[in-house]
Amino acid sequence: PKRIFSGIQPTGSVHLGNYFGAIQRWVELQNAGEEVLCSIADLHSITLPQDPKKLRENTLLMAATLVACGIDFEKSILFQQSKVPMHTELCWVLGTITTMPRLAHLPQFKEKSESLKNIPLGLYIYPVLQAADILLYKATHVPIGQDQAQHIQLAQDLAHTFNRKFGQTFPIPHSLISDGPSQRIKSLREPMKKMSKSHTDPKSRLDILDEPDVLLEKIKKAMTDFTSEVTYQPEKRPGVTNLINIHSLFTGKTPDEICKEAVELNTGQYKLVLADIVIEKLSPIRADILRLTKEPAYLDEILKKGTERATELATNCSEEVMNKVLGTDTI
Ligand code: TYM
Repeated sequence: PKRIFSGIQPTGSVHLGNYFGAIQRWVELQNAGEEVLCSIADLHSITLPQDPKKLRENTLLMAATLVACGIDFEKSILFQQSKVPMHTELCWVLGTITTMPRLAHLPQFKEKSESLKNIPLGLYIYPVLQAADILLYKATHVPIGQDQAQHIQLAQDLAHTFNRKFGQTFPIPHSLISDGPSQRIKSLREPMKKMSKSHTDPKSRLDILDEPDVLLEKIKKAMTDFTSEVTYQPEKRPGVTNLINIHSLFTGKTPDEICKEAVELNTGQYKLVLADIVIEKLSPIRADILRLTKEPAYLDEILKKGTERATELATNCSEEVMNKVLGTDTI
C-alpha cells in the first residue's frame, strides 16, 4: 500500500504555488482514499531567523489553512513536525551517512546561503531533516512542487545507502510532481522565475489570504508583454501564459478554451476577468481560514491528535533504525 508524506513550512500565508503545486494534490490523494501525512515543518523554518511568537501563530495559521483547503484531520494525519522529536533523531543518524559535497551542491542551499555572510549549519543540513521526515514514516510517495525534486532525490539516495549498510529498512520514496503547469507556478513580476514566499516584492505572488482589492491590484500589475491579444505561448509569452495557467487550474478549462473566450479582449481586460475568478475562488477559503484562526484551542486539538497518530507510526521505525545502527539492547 502507498503511504503519502508531505510537508510545508509555516511561513505566513500560502501562495498559489503552494496551493496548486502541493496542497491541492494532497487533498486529491486524501479524497482518493490514500493515507496522507501532512507535516507543518516548523523545524525547517528556524533555519532562517524567526520570531518565536510569530512562528507559533504561523503554525496555527498553517493548520487553519490546510483544514480550510480540504485536509480532513480525521482521514489524514496533520501534525507539527517539532512535536515528534524522532524527526531530529533520525536526521542525526542520516547525517552520519551523508557527505558534505552532496549537500553543498543542492540548488536551494546555494540560493538561500548566497546572500548570507555567516551560513548556519541548519541551513546546510536542512535537506537531511527533510529526508528524515519522509523516511521516518517509510513513505512511498511525496507530492511536491518541482523546486523540491532534488531534496527528494537526496532522500532516495539516503534510503538506498541506509538499506545497503544496515539491511532493507526503507522503501524508496517516489516524488509525485504534476506534469502540468502546477508543478511550477510563476512569479507575477518575473514570469521566468517561480512564485516564492521569500521574494521581496509581495506583488510577485497571489496569497490565499489576500483581500479582494489586493488580488485585483496584483493581477492588474502582473508583468505581461507588448502584445495585446490573449494567446497561450509558454516560451514566447511566459507572463500571459502564467495567468492562463492559473485560470485553467481554478476553472478546469483548457488554455485553448480560455483563449477562445478571451478572443475579443486585450490582456488588460483579460486580467479583470481573471481577477474576478481568483477572487471568487479564494473568498470562501479565506473566510474559512479567518474563522478557524479564531479558534486556536480547536486547532491545537487537531494538531495534538495528529501528533499522537504520527508518533505511533514513527516509534516503530525509530526503534528499528536505532537497533540496526547502535545494536540491539540485551536484557
Ligand atoms: P515549502 O514550504 O517551501 O513549499 C511547500 C510546497 O509548495 C511547493 N511550491 C510550489 N509548487 C509549484 N509552484 C511554485 N511556485 C511553488 N512554490 C512552492 C513546494 O514544492 C512544496 O511542495 N522543505 C519543504 C517542506 C518540507 C517537506 C518535507 C516537503 C519539509 N519536510 C518532506 C516534502 C517532504 C519546503 O520548504 O516547502
